[in-house]
Amino acid sequence: MPAQRVGITGANGTIGRVLMKGLNVEGDCELTPFTRRPVDFPSTIVHFDSAAEVEGAFQNLDAVIHLAADPSPSADWERIRTHNIDAMYLVLEECRRAAVKRLVFASTNHTMHGNSILTTPETLDASTAVRMKLDDPPNPDSYYAVSKLFGENLGKLYSEQHGVEFVGLRIGWLTAGDDPTAFRGTASEDYMRAMFLSHRDCVEAHRCALKVETRFLLAYVISDNDRRVFDLEETAAVLGFEPQDNAEDYFAH
Ligand SMILES: NC(=O)c1ccc[n+]([C@@H]2O[C@H](COP(=O)([O-])OP(=O)(O)OC[C@H]3O[C@@H](n4cnc5c(N)ncnc54)[C@H](O)[C@@H]3O)[C@@H](O)[C@H]2O)c1
Repeated sequence: MPAQRVGITGANGTIGRVLMKGLNVEGDCELTPFTRRPVDFPSTIVHFDSAAEVEGAFQNLDAVIHLAADPSPSADWERIRTHNIDAMYLVLEECRRAAVKRLVFASTNHTMHGNSILTTPETLDASTAVRMKLDDPPNPDSYYAVSKLFGENLGKLYSEQHGVEFVGLRIGWLTAGDDPTAFRGTASEDYMRAMFLSHRDCVEAHRCALKVETRFLLAYVISDNDRRVFDLEETAAVLGFEPQDNAEDYFAH
């Protein structure tokens, strides 16, 4: 079978670098990285908030993993509108125009934070064993989270009306260091223990997202953390993703 031609936007970001390293090891993917400026590996420069630059960018690609965005829950409206909302529309339009078969979209756990850590922070307490389902009503905590819900819904529209397959991954928390214990003793420790996503689990989730048969799906993408607040059984059923790591194993040492 010929290698799948996969574009990665935001390829030099934290997750982009993990996928650039991890995705093409089996030779089943031919990666085309997109970055906003020249970086330390060959890439195509595209500002995804510029219609003129995005048009034609996805020619000859089978799939795109869309990571480029402002990833900050504290980003102001102007940044979110530009990098997450306008850019998402242009990315999906280019998928439609270039007949890209599939878009894999980096959504976020923040879409549910009103449920998980804001209104009921005790849900991060391991003893309560809350497990949110994929069809629980979203409860965004920021313009950032709202922009990711917009992305999921625009994906639904393009999957239904334009045949662009869409896989939205509600990603937990991945850091460059791949070590959740870096947050030991901080205010973020409980959150990290619930949301940790290891590099290898992140690669595997994206591998599944590129392959799974679907027109549209959403999934929670975290490691198999004992203290998770997301239901992973549904994700295993729809995406075929079965994470290997568990934040508690790191904290045990
Ligand atoms: N890291 C996490 O734990 C996490 C969790 C949930 C969701 N996500 C999502 O995953 C994606 C990647 O996250 P990350 O942690 O690697 O972020 P990052 O900031 O390290 O990388 C994002 C990249 O996107 C690029 N970018 C931003 N706006 C752009 C534009 N208009 N045009 C071109 N490039 C642009 C930036 O230059 C950067 O390289 C983001 O969409 C983020 O919201 C990340």
